Amino acid sequence: MGKSIFVGKDTDGLDQVLLLNKANRHGLIAGATGTGKTVTLQILTEGFSKAGVPVFCADVKGDLSGLSQPGSVSHKLHDKLLSRAAKIGLDDYRYSAMPVIFWDLYSKQGHPIRATISEMGPTLLARLMDLNPTQEGILTIAFELADDEGMLLLDLQDLRALLNYISDHKKEISREYGNVTSQSVAAIQRSLLTLEREGAEEFFGEPALKLADLMRVNGNGKKRGDGNDGLTLDDLMQTDEAGRGIVSILAADELINSPKLYSVFLLWLLSELFEELPEVGNPDKPKLVFFFDEAHLLFDDAPDALIDKIEQVARLIRSKGVGVFFVTQNPMDIPDSVLGQLGNRIQHALRAYTPKEQKAIRAAASSFRENPNLDTEEVITDLGIGEALVSLLDEKGVPGVVGRTLIRPPASRLGPATKPERKTVIAASPVGGLYDDPINRESAYEILAAKELKAAEAAEKAAQKTEREKAKAEKSRSRSRTTTRHRTTRKKENVVIKEIKREGRLLMRREGRKIIRGILGAIIR
Ligand SMILES: Nc1ncnc2c1ncn2[C@@H]1O[C@H](COP(=O)(O)OP(=O)(O)OP(=O)(O)O)[C@@H](O)[C@H]1O
Ligand SMILES: [Mg+2]
Repeated sequence: MGKSIFVGKDTDGLDQVLLLNKANRHGLIAGATGTGKTVTLQILTEGFSKAGVPVFCADVKGDLSGLSQPGSVSHKLHDKLLSRAAKIGLDDYRYSAMPVIFWDLYSKQGHPIRATISEMGPTLLARLMDLNPTQEGILTIAFELADDEGMLLLDLQDLRALLNYISDHKKEISREYGNVTSQSVAAIQRSLLTLEREGAEEFFGEPALKLADLMRVNGNGKKRGDGNDGLTLDDLMQTDEAGRGIVSILAADELINSPKLYSVFLLWLLSELFEELPEVGNPDKPKLVFFFDEAHLLFDDAPDALIDKIEQVARLIRSKGVGVFFVTQNPMDIPDSVLGQLGNRIQHALRAYTPKEQKAIRAAASSFRENPNLDTEEVITDLGIGEALVSLLDEKGVPGVVGRTLIRPPASRLGPATKPERKTVIAASPVGGLYDDPINRESAYEILAAKELKAAEAAEKAAQKTEREKAKAEKSRSRSRTTTRHRTTRKKENVVIKEIKREGRLLMRREGRKIIRGILGAIIR
């Protein structure tokens, strides 16, 4: 039997274990609030980390930060945890902390995590900005234009500059790329403002996240670059803990208030993983496990096309060795096409007050492989806290018989890390200094601004020349000013476009690849 993670013991007396070589068959953790989903996520994360598998998870309530701290005998629930461990035959129950990297899109509670506009791609960006299909079409044109002209789209400033440019030159652009109307561009510009207000400004830009930093294993987690600047996590960990997968925790308490940014960001991360990782077939253990908390946000009013994409990404990412676990209150929040791919299931208690809730319970209950000793429908409402119906894939990849399972207690702290503790972890992080300061290199905004300036200068020169000629001419005869002015504007435009093209191609060559990416974009077209 392959290696596994001990999840708990069921009422038939059987150990429920998650096989590491089946973790890329994905999973579901569901249950009403306060029933134990987060702790289940915590113990699975611990299991993966201990097995050398890096984990990425979003921390919606802050309580996952406890993974960075060991449990403690002085914790108010210490006795309860011990007796739970004893009840399920967990003899070697010991407290320990996991190696954690804290991330935060807003740079407050962890290292900043950024992506460029190019990496995000027009499809996800359109979703993020709530664009209609026409507007999305124009955004795509903007990307194509940037691509053709080799202008990098890194941050919102770049996108804004490009949209302004498109608006100013919509005639020429419409001719080459398809119809662009001022109205639609203005609508996109307004969405952009909303996005900025939601704090996305900080998220878009560089240094962009390198996926390798999410896939670290303790012991080879040295800093990139010079390698000898200060502490690494290794220094904090005992030797027997070397080889643990690093747990990346994204602060999501604030982020969750921008549900679109939250879900689009996680989706982007998944598609980047898909795109960048090599095929590995069926590995002994996953390369990375990804927990998607509040997963319903991903699907709330998502168009069918997007749901199809998510389904595809989930299916295809398996062979890249990435396991995805969706965490949500109600399994019915997840579309059937996606739900059908989640092989490992942990269902905590559900409540049955309304008819809709009763329906959800029937659906959840019937999704399990039957156990003659259990009436799943009845059990679901009766489950205690930290107890769940569990069915995990067996060695053949078949869902195991469902068991009413007492979930193991965590080794790391139950509850959040304190602010000073978080600070200490951040200070010792293996990615310290790599992302903390934003960089703003030459991209669309700078190129367009420089060109405008150059064009203005050229126009100025032309105007001066005209003035001189005019002065000369005026000596003999007067001339119309309007033609001159008209010609100057034209000239200015031509200079801008020519310059952009030239500069752009240079940059493009330097960059060495097309800038439009994104599996979601690629698959959709
Ligand atoms: N496996 C477990 N071992 C020990 N205690 C547990 C376990 N699972 C849950 N508990 C207890 O139940 C509490 C609530 O669990 P948890 O925070 O995981 O619920 P949740 O389903 O994530 O709730 P919410 O939807 O509100 O986030 C925990 O703080 C802990 O005290
Ligand atoms: Mg929770």
